[in-house]
Amino acid sequence: MNTVKIALNGKTYQAEEKEPVLKVARREDVDIPALCYHEGLDSYGACRLCLVEVTGGGRPGMTTSCTLAATEGLEVQTDSSEIAKIRKGLLELYLAQAPDADYIKELAAQYGIKKSRFARSREPGAPVQKCVLCGLCVRICNEAIGASVISFISRGPETEVNSPYLEPSPKCIGCTACADVCPTDVIQITDKDGIRMVETWSDTQVAMKKCSMCGAYCAPEPLMDTVYRGVPDLDEEVRELCIKCRRRLKIRKFSQMTK
Ligand code: FES
Repeated sequence: MNTVKIALNGKTYQAEEKEPVLKVARREDVDIPALCYHEGLDSYGACRLCLVEVTGGGRPGMTTSCTLAATEGLEVQTDSSEIAKIRKGLLELYLAQAPDADYIKELAAQYGIKKSRFARSREPGAPVQKCVLCGLCVRICNEAIGASVISFISRGPETEVNSPYLEPSPKCIGCTACADVCPTDVIQITDKDGIRMVETWSDTQVAMKKCSMCGAYCAPEPLMDTVYRGVPDLDEEVRELCIKCRRRLKIRKFSQMTK
């Protein structure tokens, strides 16, 4: 791994060569707003909010920091009146798209925006609108988990993320990765009576496995099957246990050994 030195707002930091500048900024507590970046996925520069300006050591101009690779001597300005103006315009659009998303409201407020010029009129009792279509949930499900449960459906203002034909998906393993990466807390998942219900994906239901020792529901069955495929040598006894009972079993075996 080669290390390079880059400057953010005039201060020098060490980075891995080709590391996304946004990743360096996050590590060093330099604030850059971003919606579609996740360290576990390739950067794809969709939301444009992480815009910065290259001022030296590279091709000068505005670019997205999530797709900007750290190179020796790179100089970057993460905030300026020009950058703030572009982010404001973007945040107004996101606020119109997701007027109920607290995170977007907070970001917009940081840039002095309380109301979007592009806000659409809404009927009383209209569905909650929190999704900014950043695509993180789709990408984590497809590219990292490999389940491909959801995708973008419809077009234009009707575009949304959901399961095909708005039907419950048999492919969902109940891992909750989609909810974990969602920046605006759109995805509703509840566990009840041995079922993990993914309400947002057309009420997809995933059966939970019971711990053979304490009887508590511990994790979705297809998720456990997926994990166990990666550890074929795992003791059969352990496979049937929840985390707490695994610890209990370990402690019990250890104390028997030391008697
Ligand atoms: S985080 Fe860089 S474009 Fe979205």
